[in-house]
Amino acid sequence: MANPLLLGFTALLLILADASSPSAADSIHDLLRAYGLPGGLLPREVEYYSLDRASGDLEVRIGRPCYAEFDGTVLFDRVVRANLTYGGLRSLVGVTQEELFLWLPVREIVVSDPASGVILFDIGLAHKRISLSLFEFPPECTPGDDGGWLSGARDG
Ligand SMILES: *[C@@H]1O[C@H](CO)[C@@H](O)[C@H](O)[C@H]1NC(C)=O
Repeated sequence: MANPLLLGFTALLLILADASSPSAADSIHDLLRAYGLPGGLLPREVEYYSLDRASGDLEVRIGRPCYAEFDGTVLFDRVVRANLTYGGLRSLVGVTQEELFLWLPVREIVVSDPASGVILFDIGLAHKRISLSLFEFPPECTPGDDGGWLSGARDG
């Protein structure tokens, strides 16, 4: 009954489906975990990312600016860049955190000692120590002000 050609074709389809499955959001979170960082550091809404494994150059596209709640509010830009190394996102661009009513750029996010249960946010004025448990799951990100996103969704 089993048709070898059909089986081969089915296998090919499965391979294609796997390669093109819309799992960018999942894989960036898995990537973070593989680098010793909590997967919930970036929101669910990540559309695309690219990593140059040699240099650590990471680019993450979120599609539109959005707000996520961890310990306070963090604003993600539509494009976030960082140097990804084991346990750290450095030279971070595109992430700001509200602190005492100011929006401060987050320069570094580092987990230097997982056993400590904390993650460090370098926001220039201070290193914030935040509980790692807040970053376990990718947060849902609330759309930020993107001058037109809310008025969008027209067919053309
Ligand atoms: C990232 O950091 C590593 C280690 O500090 C450094 O060797 C590398 O050049 C950096 N890459 C980029 C893209 O800045």
